[in-house]
Amino acid sequence: MTRESWGSRAGFILAAAGSAVGLGNLWRFPWMTAENGGAAFLVLYLAIILLVGVPGLLGELVIGRRAGNSPVGALRDLADSRGWGVVGHLPILTNLFLLSFYSVVGGWVLRYLVDAVLGTPVTDPGARFDALAFGPEAVAFHVVFVTLTGLIVAGGVRRGIERATKLMMPAIVVLLVGLAIYAGRLPGASGGYAFFLQPDLGYLRTHFVDVLLAAAGQALFTLSIGAGTMITYASYISDDRSLPADGTTIAVLNTVVGVLAGLVVLPLLFALVGGAGSSGPGALFVSLTGAFATLPTPAGRILAVAFFAVVALAALSSSISMLEIPVSFLVDEHGWTRRRATTILLGVFLITGSANALEPALFGFIADTLVNLLLTAGLTVFLLFAGWVLGADAIAEYERGAGPLARRVSRAWLLAIGIVLPLFLLFTLFSGVVSAAEVAVQHRWVLLATGAAALVAFLGLRHPRSVV
Ligand code: PHE
Repeated sequence: MTRESWGSRAGFILAAAGSAVGLGNLWRFPWMTAENGGAAFLVLYLAIILLVGVPGLLGELVIGRRAGNSPVGALRDLADSRGWGVVGHLPILTNLFLLSFYSVVGGWVLRYLVDAVLGTPVTDPGARFDALAFGPEAVAFHVVFVTLTGLIVAGGVRRGIERATKLMMPAIVVLLVGLAIYAGRLPGASGGYAFFLQPDLGYLRTHFVDVLLAAAGQALFTLSIGAGTMITYASYISDDRSLPADGTTIAVLNTVVGVLAGLVVLPLLFALVGGAGSSGPGALFVSLTGAFATLPTPAGRILAVAFFAVVALAALSSSISMLEIPVSFLVDEHGWTRRRATTILLGVFLITGSANALEPALFGFIADTLVNLLLTAGLTVFLLFAGWVLGADAIAEYERGAGPLARRVSRAWLLAIGIVLPLFLLFTLFSGVVSAAEVAVQHRWVLLATGAAALVAFLGLRHPRSVV
């Protein structure tokens, strides 16, 4: 069977940008910013996107196109080493954790979208969020969300992922621009614009390592790097397009949507509820539902429907990329059909996602801490691989189809991804492990139970027949 490929260059870029643009921009970003000193966090985050994110993204694209294979086979075959093949399994684990919590948040979004469409009156947004965030209702909506994800992925690279993201991405941008214009015209909106421009340097000084870790984690999360996503998506590229140009376009699109989202959310909050609102994982939902409720009924309702529709589309275009990693592994390495791989994996996610939908402590640890660590570890591994194993081949792949400007910095790029970025990532990783260990000890029972469940799921994946 010939391997699948993208139908067009725009198709690849929109799919990759669709993966990048997601709950990371709309939900996790405001949460992380509020938790880590506001503008101080923002400054570090933007610097890391530029200096680590873009070169790192290119590292993954180079590996993926060079290999034309998903991470396990890519690392194993390019290095001609079984050891690297074992390392290549890390992204599978990462995406299992990622989608397990992401789909719970996706479920919340669908729940709020349903509320908005039905016009359910909300008197106490905080209590509303507490009631639906964890429990049977959260499980039900997670199941709907992950099933939608599965339906798209089962359709394949071209007919499923590419077609869906080609429709979703323009819809997201158009709706966000409309919402930003509306929000900017509300009296009091300017407070929202000012909010991000006042860094709290005192906070940055006392919490530097924590803020750095959170900013690095968020930068990787929002660009979908460190999880093997870009390796896999680039493995479906079938021609000599410029990877530096495509990578930059993806990063720019992602940042533009992130900024647009900020230009919607913050002015809305300042204009309608007079501040940045509450914090924590519920921040976006609680604050915005409160804000929409202050508007006259039809206006508030239309706005709420438009907003949650954007968030739902963005979440789906990312969740499909999470599911695609284990799916492509089973297809490429075990010769499964795409449909079978998707169905079995949906079964796994129904369990692991439900655990997250029932247990806030587990959800918090995965969504906040564990994901940062896994993405950082993953990117470190990929960059060391590109820098030290591929070496000159990485430069050749980077330069294939690239313009003169990108070619001029190809050696600098290789030095950056081979030496500078791994040192930086390892530093954040080790400081992260230290603080994660403290949290982990507090929640050891929950973690052990989920670890056991994840292990069972993982073993099931390694030995296909034992699951079916
Ligand atoms: N980038 C996605 C978002 O911002 C999340 C994601 C992370 C997707 C890692 C794939 C891999 O929502």
